[in-house]
Amino acid sequence: MSDPFLIAEGMTGGYGAADILHNCTLSVEPGEIAVIVGPNGAGKSTAMKAVFGMLKLREGHVRLGGKDITALSPQARVAEGMAFVPQTSNVFPTMTVEENLEMGAFLRRDDIRGTMEQVYALFPVLKDKRRQAAGELSGGQRQQVAVGRALMTQPRLLMLDEPTAGVSPIVMDELFDRIIEVARSGISILMVEQNARQALEIADHGYVLVQGANRYTDTGAALLADPEVRRTFLGG
Ligand SMILES: Nc1ncnc2c1ncn2[C@@H]1O[C@H](COP(=O)(O)OP(=O)(O)O)[C@@H](O)[C@H]1O
Ligand SMILES: [Mg+2]
Repeated sequence: MSDPFLIAEGMTGGYGAADILHNCTLSVEPGEIAVIVGPNGAGKSTAMKAVFGMLKLREGHVRLGGKDITALSPQARVAEGMAFVPQTSNVFPTMTVEENLEMGAFLRRDDIRGTMEQVYALFPVLKDKRRQAAGELSGGQRQQVAVGRALMTQPRLLMLDEPTAGVSPIVMDELFDRIIEVARSGISILMVEQNARQALEIADHGYVLVQGANRYTDTGAALLADPEVRRTFLGG
């Protein structure tokens, strides 16, 4: 059997002496949506940082498209096709929407206008507001800028840490629809979500992370149907 497109296998590590992640494994196939849920402080953001190379692992490997990238810097991982939207500070607030998108493409040497038009087609409001400072936009629109900026690198894997944090349910649904659209174009999605139930509804695969370890791994539908998962992590 061949590897999944992204496989982060047996990740163990943390920020100092004590490990936060304990033998944590995550994977995503092309065009699929994988969702990580779990309580606050479970290590979801830490796992995302580890996959993106912002955290040195004591044990474990990350492979993308069959290539071992465990030793690569975040910037080198971007060149390999990874894009990461962190949980906070994911836009440049004083720059315009368009400048934010241009910043996303800083590694590219080719013509970026086609990709920018794709981002504007996905998020039409950003085209209307392209000359406005990103900091002036609503929370939901800022998240669109952050996702759009990540898409400017033409990633094969898009990683999102709580993209719907602080937005209304309607804006959340809207953003999830756009994320599904991105996945249908063949891009893999690895996403952390606090809105666990709604996120698992759009997930091909879900991971419940507890204290830095995999507690449950299954299809989104199976996790939603599991009485134990529902009671403990989805509020009944
Ligand atoms: N930069 C950091 N330095 C030290 N400890 C951290 C750092 N970031 C997070 N932690 C700790 O790691 C644990 C997991 O945090 P985090 O990955 O942010 O959880 P989650 O995203 O699931 O809420 C927590 O105990 C948190 O206090
Ligand atoms: Mg987090």
